[in-house]
Amino acid sequence: MKAKYAALRGTRDLLPEEIGHWLYLEQAVRDVFGRYRFHEIRTPVLEATELFARSVGESTDIVHKEMYTIQRGDESISLRPENTASVVRAFVQHNLHRSIADGFPARYYYIGPMFRYERPQKGRQRQFHQIGAEVLGSADPLCDAETLEMLCRFLDELGIGDRELVLNSLGDPDCRSRYRAALVDWLEPRREQLCEDCRRKSADNPLRVFDCKVKEDQALLIDAPEIASFLGDEAAEHFSAVRALLDRYGIAYRVDPRMVRGLDYYQRTVFEVVSTGLGSQNAILGGGRYDGLVRELGGPEVPGFGFAIGMERLVSLMPEDRVVAGAADLVMICLGQEGLDGGVDLARRLRAAGLNVAMPVAVRPMGAQMKRAGRTGAAFALFVGADELEAGRFGLKNLETGEQVTVDERELLIRLGVNT
Ligand code: HAM
Repeated sequence: MKAKYAALRGTRDLLPEEIGHWLYLEQAVRDVFGRYRFHEIRTPVLEATELFARSVGESTDIVHKEMYTIQRGDESISLRPENTASVVRAFVQHNLHRSIADGFPARYYYIGPMFRYERPQKGRQRQFHQIGAEVLGSADPLCDAETLEMLCRFLDELGIGDRELVLNSLGDPDCRSRYRAALVDWLEPRREQLCEDCRRKSADNPLRVFDCKVKEDQALLIDAPEIASFLGDEAAEHFSAVRALLDRYGIAYRVDPRMVRGLDYYQRTVFEVVSTGLGSQNAILGGGRYDGLVRELGGPEVPGFGFAIGMERLVSLMPEDRVVAGAADLVMICLGQEGLDGGVDLARRLRAAGLNVAMPVAVRPMGAQMKRAGRTGAAFALFVGADELEAGRFGLKNLETGEQVTVDERELLIRLGVNT
């Protein structure tokens, strides 16, 4: 039957059969990020539009073309297209800089939905989910390297082997503006050879021409100047210190001097992790350093570093067995009305003791109940009829081996691993 209503284009339902992978992923985040002392932060999905314009950047595609914006009276609010801006806003609003000291930055992580009005395709949705981490209060290369090391450990533990860490440095704002000027000079005489989109970008946001997917443009841009030659001494030293630490930790990476990222707040280290398993939307995650952002949003001079992972993309790369099983511990086979009545009371006690118990809510033939039992994923079936209730002893069948024993309620709990 064709449904009258369907989820909006670019959004999708996560059904119970796939939720086990998402739960596994969320548990892994809490486990691994917790080891590095990151703490969870939850911010609203709605924020002032200006927050994103000021941070991500007015001329970026994300803000310029992709935001879901609502005008309410004289207030313009937007669904968050990303969460770094919101975390920094919260950091400033709640004076969280008071919690940091030199060498002891604040570490936050988040898991949640983001919204971008993009053309949906494989790996690209309008509502998607990110796992993100932000470190506020350290400009030290050790902070970049530690966070990247955590990220690699996380991906290793999830079994994501097919991946590549790609790094670049965008330098400090003055290196970047010298580079920008040089790039604009280089692009100017070649404008006519560029695609229409790049012609627009070369005026508004020239570094973004490197994201162009048009083959002719890519070929032309091979000879364009590279940011590496414009890095000042401090930025260059910072980048080489980050790379030296990654080498020491045995973390493989490739430096791509043309990687610029699509958000304006970055400076110095930027990175992505890409996977060939993803198709054309090949970035599992992206991030970098944003030392000027806290200041830009009205806070003190506090440097920042972070990343965000696309959860849909990550789930699609996770091995099948990375799943939190939603299986019942026990399925109750209730024989007749008496079995059902007594079964309800027994199930209440077993659930109170901590077991997941599946059972029907109407009298059903035993054959039908056994057939459904397989779907619950339960390892055991318990037979509950008038005789069993009378004797206080029940048949417990191991659904994998077929072996059956008779147990009372206490023995049942012990067998199923509940401390009595
Ligand atoms: P971003 O590169 O815009 O960075 O997004 C990070 C990741 O989110 C991407 O690599 C991708 O996996 C996923 N993603 C982005 N857009 C979509 C989409 N339309 N559909 C599916 N997945 C998508 C940021 O958002 C920054 N806030 C990262 C950051 C945190 N930088 C510093 N801290």
